[in-house]
Amino acid sequence: MPIHRIAILGGTGFVGRHLAERLCQDGHHVRVLTRNRERHREDLLVLPGLELVQTDVHDAAAFEKQIADRDVVINLVGILNERVPGRTDFPPGRHGDFERNHIELPRLVANTCARLGIRRLLHMSALGASPLAPSAYLRSKGIGEEIVRQAGEDSARLGHFAYLDGPKLVWGRGLWVTVFRPSVIFGEGDSFFNRFASLLRRIPGVLPLAQVQARMQPVWVEDVVEAFAKSIDSRSTFGKAYCLCGPKVYTLGELVRYTQTLTGTHRLVVPVCDSLATLQASLLEKLPGKLLTRDNLRSLSVASTCSGSDLEQAFGLKPASVESIVPTYLGRQADRAGRLSEIRNRRTAER
Ligand SMILES: NC(=O)c1ccc[n+]([C@@H]2O[C@H](COP(=O)([O-])OP(=O)(O)OC[C@H]3O[C@@H](n4cnc5c(N)ncnc54)[C@H](OP(=O)(O)O)[C@@H]3O)[C@@H](O)[C@H]2O)c1
Repeated sequence: MPIHRIAILGGTGFVGRHLAERLCQDGHHVRVLTRNRERHREDLLVLPGLELVQTDVHDAAAFEKQIADRDVVINLVGILNERVPGRTDFPPGRHGDFERNHIELPRLVANTCARLGIRRLLHMSALGASPLAPSAYLRSKGIGEEIVRQAGEDSARLGHFAYLDGPKLVWGRGLWVTVFRPSVIFGEGDSFFNRFASLLRRIPGVLPLAQVQARMQPVWVEDVVEAFAKSIDSRSTFGKAYCLCGPKVYTLGELVRYTQTLTGTHRLVVPVCDSLATLQASLLEKLPGKLLTRDNLRSLSVASTCSGSDLEQAFGLKPASVESIVPTYLGRQADRAGRLSEIRNRRTAER
């Protein structure tokens, strides 16, 4: 397997930590770009071959400096809520955090890679992302994904890709792009099951739950990571986008009840109607931590499910189920170290 010099944006997050660990295990030289090196040094600097660099990836010159000696760039940056809100119809220009992180950053990443002659870009989008989606999160992710995919498609068709830098037309070398569109991702350190578990522990008696019927097909973080790792050198994935889902579709209500069972926190889950949910979200989004926003509700209104499994077809993986993994890190039955290393060992043996 060729050894690569890889830069990861968003490599300190939940998916990023798992991916960085996997890529280091494969022997790659991994540089993780972060806004705050101190906050992440303990978790990440223990990985052999990993470099953790503090920089502002939105600053074109600083970003270019950090990726100039790389041959693969992976962009995982994503936010669920805006700290600086912007216009949600996303006219060009820097308006808010969604636009900055999901549209302008992917554009900067694709253009810089092409200009520097970096041939491989992996981009993390989300299932349901589309310029026409009902939420600003999914719309901005969709616009960013289209920008990156266009760069990849032009490269696949023409062998190069051109973009406008102000009034100047810049010709970039071919950029081989692969886009990933996962459903909800679960695994050790996730913000889905862990968040509900902590909420259920803290809330007394009753949990009012919006969008209980929202459908999703959670996918294990190690399966997502495997797809990223396998695609780096796989020509058949160049210029493609993959939907990543687990083996089974659940409603949000089912997943919350499952979390209750695992954590032994038996609260009464009360479905909240749409108008009350909007009112609840409009209050919660004003509080620190933004537990729920109206934009989150709109994202949940889009089913996060796959019609076919790209994990199996494109990557030859049998996706792990929620039931086989979540008990290893959540709740009373968790015996993290033992069970996770057993699963990892099985995976490594299969590789
Ligand atoms: N988790 C899921 O269920 C799920 C599902 C579908 C798609 N996704 C997508 O997968 C990607 C990774 O998700 P995740 O759960 O790992 O997210 P996460 O844990 O919240 O991590 C987000 C990462 O983005 C970086 N980041 C956040 N705001 C930034 C900013 N303003 N400028 C630069 N970097 C910034 C953070 O880096 P620093 O703080 O170190 O700078 C962090 O490493 C995202 O693109 C997300 O949309 C996730």
